[in-house]
Formats: sequence, structure tokens, C-alpha cells
Amino acid sequence: MQKDGSMETHQQVEAMFEKRVTNTVIKFENVDYSHPNGAVALKNVSLEIKAGELIGILGTNGAGKSTLVRHVNGLLKPTHGVVKVFGESTRDTSAAKLSKRVGIVFQNPNNQLFAQSVKSEIEFGLRNFGYSEEIVRRRTDWALNTFSLLEYSSRPPMELSGGEKKRLCNALVLAWDPDIVILDEPTVGQDSEQKEKLAQSVKLLLSERKTVILVSHDIEFVWPLQPRVILMSEGKIVADGTAQKILGNSSETLAANILLPQLVDLFRRLGKTDSFPVDEFEASDRIKELAKEGFS
Ligand SMILES: Nc1ncnc2c1ncn2[C@@H]1O[C@H](COP(=O)(O)OP(=O)(O)O)[C@@H](O)[C@H]1O
Ligand SMILES: [Mg+2]
Repeated sequence: MQKDGSMETHQQVEAMFEKRVTNTVIKFENVDYSHPNGAVALKNVSLEIKAGELIGILGTNGAGKSTLVRHVNGLLKPTHGVVKVFGESTRDTSAAKLSKRVGIVFQNPNNQLFAQSVKSEIEFGLRNFGYSEEIVRRRTDWALNTFSLLEYSSRPPMELSGGEKKRLCNALVLAWDPDIVILDEPTVGQDSEQKEKLAQSVKLLLSERKTVILVSHDIEFVWPLQPRVILMSEGKIVADGTAQKILGNSSETLAANILLPQLVDLFRRLGKTDSFPVDEFEASDRIKELAKEGFS
């Protein structure tokens, strides 16, 4: 029964059931997608993502990563199969309706920016979702500060460099506070300080039980976050598992044309392949231990 006394539709009941029992927020069922020119970009993709997961989607150029994530906010609809987000097929809902809960930063920032200034770009999205002026002000301040954009706030977004535009897109989508955050190549053009801030933002989102999907070539950015890794090649999912398992396995990463993370490479050379250190602090502790044991 709903608040207004009417009964839920069959689909709504099914959606509530699926959410409560499995906590699944995204589900791809045998999804194929061909672009309008006939290019096949997804082949029989099935996938389930639960609330609060961090997913790293990796693969070479043209593997279908961007096409896959564009299905999650309903921008693209499957040619065959079904994509369900929060239990509902994206065919039965609009990208506009989904966008408040599914925030996506596109690979190309030029597809995302249109306002007259950096500040109004951030404010526009927030007002569009109906947030109060007080919240618009607070979230805009947060985004400008967190992503070091304060000094650009009155500049036209189109005059920023590629890396600055990317940062603005990351900032404005995170300011919406969506439940699912998708970042398509978020580190392009970012220096190490910005990458670190981005990693901290991802950790903050996860602590708030958000679902985060990272599409990235930047293996050294992805590795310390230890996501569940989905490897794609030629429109298909070729591996799906923990970062330790998938990125620690040279044959799987080689097959998908991905370089091993440096720390994995180092520990493989040392012959220590049970588990790989996630950052340089863990690596240095473990190397000290190994030194004590005389690298046996
Ligand atoms: N708008 C489009 N029209 C036609 N083909 C496209 C379009 N976008 C991508 N493709 C093709 O679809 C395939 C997957 O592309 P994409 O999802 O962008 O891969 P990735 O993000 O992994 O680099 C590629 O073969 C690409 O050339
Ligand atoms: Mg892409």
C-alpha cells in the first residue's frame, strides 16, 4: 500500500522485493548493445552490483567500458537484454529521472559543460534537482574548495584546460550527492595531489554506503582503492573478482592488455604472490619483514 492509499504496481512490488532481499542496485541481464551505425559495443553482458560496492572497470580503448556505464543512468538502452537500476528496468524510466540518484562524469568533459561560469555550472545542476538555496550554496562551496576550483569560479568552463574541466565535472557530480557515482576516466589530466583528493573523495563516498564505479586506465590510481575489478575486452566481461585476484594475475591482465600495478610486479619478482601490498606503507613493512628473514 502506498501513502496515497493506492496499491503498488507489480513492477514496484518486484523492485522493492529485489532491493530488500539482495541489496542489488544495478543488474545487467544478457545485455547486447549496438551503436546506431551498427558497431557492436556490448556482447551478452551480465552483471550484478550491490549497494556500497566499489567497482573498477578496466580494459583497453574500445573495450566497451563507457558504453557499459552509460547504460546505468539510462542514457543508452540495451539492444537486447535488460538493465535494472534500483530494481527498475531503464526502459521504464528516463535518464532525467535517474540522474539525481545516478551521477555520471563523462569521459569527455565537453559533453557535460555548458554554463557561463564554473560556479554557475555547479549551482545549475543543484537547482535543477530542486535543492534549497541554502544547500545549493553549501554544496557549491564544498565542491569549489574540495576540487581546488575557487580561483576559477567566475571563469567560463570552456576556457579551462582539459584537466581543469575534468575536475569541474568530478566536482559538480559529487555535489549532487547521488547514490551511485560513476567516474569515467576521472584522473585524466590530474596531478598527484588532485588524484589523492579524488581517492579521498571516493573513500568518503564509500563510508556513506554509496556505490562507486570507476572506469580507468590509471592502474596506479585504482590499485590502492582495492575495488572489485571487472575486466572488459571487445564488448565482453572477461574477468570479475577482487583486485588482488584479477590484478595479481598476470595472465588475466595480459589478456586484457592491462599493465600490472607496480607493487604487484615487485612482489611477483620477489616470488611473494599470496597477497600483494596495497600501498607503499604496507610494501615497506613487508619488505622489512622479508629482509629480516633474509628473503627466503
Ligand atoms: N557514438 C558511437 N557511435 C558508434 N560507435 C561507437 C560510439 N561510441 C563508441 N563506439 C564504439 O563502441 C565500442 C566501445 O566503445 P567505448 O564504450 O567508448 O569503449 P571504451 O570506453 O572501453 O574505450 C568501440 O568499438 C567504439 O568505437
Ligand atoms: Mg571510454
